[in-house]
Amino acid sequence: MARLLLRDLAQVATPAADGPVARGAELRAVAVVEDAYVLCDGESVRGVGRMRDLPAVDGDVEELDCSGLCAVPGLVDCHTHPAFGGDRVVEFSLRAGGASYEELHAAGGGILSTVVATRALSGGELEARVRRHAGWMLAHGMTTWEGKSGYGLDRETELASLRAIRAAGGLPTWLGAHSVPPEQPDADAYLDFLLAEVLPEAAALADAADVFLERGAFDAARARRYLEACRGAGLALRLHGDQFTESGAIPLALELGARSVDHLEATGDAGVRALGGSAVAAVLLPSSALFLDRPMPPARALADAGAVLALATDFNPGSSFTTSLPLVASLACTQLHLAPEEALVAMTLNAAHVLGATGAGRIAPGSRADITLLDAPDWRYLAYHLAGDVVSAVVRSGAIAFRR
Ligand code: NIG
Ligand code: FE
Repeated sequence: MARLLLRDLAQVATPAADGPVARGAELRAVAVVEDAYVLCDGESVRGVGRMRDLPAVDGDVEELDCSGLCAVPGLVDCHTHPAFGGDRVVEFSLRAGGASYEELHAAGGGILSTVVATRALSGGELEARVRRHAGWMLAHGMTTWEGKSGYGLDRETELASLRAIRAAGGLPTWLGAHSVPPEQPDADAYLDFLLAEVLPEAAALADAADVFLERGAFDAARARRYLEACRGAGLALRLHGDQFTESGAIPLALELGARSVDHLEATGDAGVRALGGSAVAAVLLPSSALFLDRPMPPARALADAGAVLALATDFNPGSSFTTSLPLVASLACTQLHLAPEEALVAMTLNAAHVLGATGAGRIAPGSRADITLLDAPDWRYLAYHLAGDVVSAVVRSGAIAFRR
């Protein structure tokens, strides 16, 4: 099997927690090895240590001189919407002039305008779009990513979205309950259609299901109906919750044993306490709050309450047109008041946990050989170099997948 030796690294930084997830004090525990090597063997890490302790490696080994670079685990984006046609640049301009995201949505713009553009694509064209977006993600250091459907809202386009995400290397989540499309009489009729006509095949293509639980989208009773049916079909559960209003997403997530509740910009003290003591992850999306000029989620309070925090881009054309987890790391430190250590753990180990991506999210013997190399003397440049070209190269499954 092919071996790859990353040598003379300035630092290797990895979550220190031994378990599958980090919370409380472990959320800020990052182990750093200076003047280091990482040896990859096939798709796994074989060893990590100081250069002076590098054992003799004989046989066929590709060596990469990593002087001046730092290694962190391949970044994990656990929340993206990459399967879409068109763009929302006109809407972006209108918002710059003062129009609100919710008003545009209510007027049939927003998500539904992307639905029209996505339905117009062939399956091949949609896959090409997702592959293009996956290339952007890789260049920002992501080696594992989740992608949601939700811009088809009909059988053919929802299933094509899930297939395109898998084909492009992502982990598909079925977001059938994103919005009610115009051809459906109401939300209940749309759910009847989704569960009878789309769920059986979506369950075979996706890993998880997600719902937009919000004023103007799906209420808690309808979200429960959708999620219970999806759970019954074997899917893990996610929720878009508390983005604009607290509408019952956290209690529902806890009750159903969801993997995560995502957004949480509107979450108050009771929600913070509930997530602090639960296994449901809080996925924070600060680039979305920034892009929409909305309040930031209560990240510090969630971390201090012991919540399982993850960070993601929410990449989509309307509310977060970015694929940069390094930018999200910067926002986590400057806007969410998290430490760089907390930001790193939240977008590696904890994000991998949200996706059930075992072995991803750390650099340790036996972990996946997924490594992001930073052009920096200190790994914290990941967050410090605001919008910088900090990613120098990416190793995925033990092979160099990207080089700047
Ligand atoms: O996570 N909030 C709902 N869905 C997406 C945005 C979708 C869109 O605006 O196209 C989100 O922000
Ligand atoms: Fe989202």
